[in-house]
Amino acid sequence: MPHIQIMPSILAANKGHLADECRRAEDAGADGIHIDIMDGHFVPNLSMGPDFVRMAKDAVSIHLSVHLMVSQPDFFAEPFLDAGSDTLILHIEANCDPSLVLKGIRDREKRAGIALNPDTSAQPVFSLAGQLDEVLCMTVNPGFGGQSFIASVLPKITEIRRLLPDIDISVDGGVDGVTGIQCAEAGANILIAGSYLYRSAEMSTSVRDLRAQGESALAKRGASSQS
Ligand code: DX5
Ligand code: ZN
Repeated sequence: MPHIQIMPSILAANKGHLADECRRAEDAGADGIHIDIMDGHFVPNLSMGPDFVRMAKDAVSIHLSVHLMVSQPDFFAEPFLDAGSDTLILHIEANCDPSLVLKGIRDREKRAGIALNPDTSAQPVFSLAGQLDEVLCMTVNPGFGGQSFIASVLPKITEIRRLLPDIDISVDGGVDGVTGIQCAEAGANILIAGSYLYRSAEMSTSVRDLRAQGESALAKRGASSQS
């Protein structure tokens, strides 16, 4: 069973101090930084480009996980890999052959992931499993930070964990000290949180508590699935 990882989503950071905000996540003990890329087409919002990833790579040495909310991941994968992405995640709903893009990411020896919108079934992930390091389950509709967690995604997480016991499952959207634990109980092990972590009074305390509570939820789940 994979371990819990905590990833602050930089979308919720203070945009006037982005390098410092990357370092704040690293200093708080986060396992990596989650970077949201929006093209104004796949989602009705714009965010950052490859230069942001390049800047983050210079600023910190923790993992950089890049979430492509773009219609054409085949067009954008290469520049984001060149910029220093350690994990590159594309949406199954995007307009491309996912298998080809995943192959391109793995060929560069980077981690490859597929994201699923809240209403998308887990089914397509199972045929791609051999090419995947991570499945990201959106727990809000993509495009904006600060939205409410959609709890009806939880059974999908459990289904993926049951069929793919060793894969990393991340959750993204509305994750906090309560919903994050529900996700870990369902089988998620990478907890991505923007507003909750960047707006917490002391990020290191929130990271430590979320990781500890997530680990016990995941362990409890492991014990009950073996009994
Ligand atoms: C939403 C993004 C999320 C977002 C999460 O489209 O993919 O990563 O930053 O923000 P919170 O944790 O505030 O819901
Ligand atoms: Zn995201």
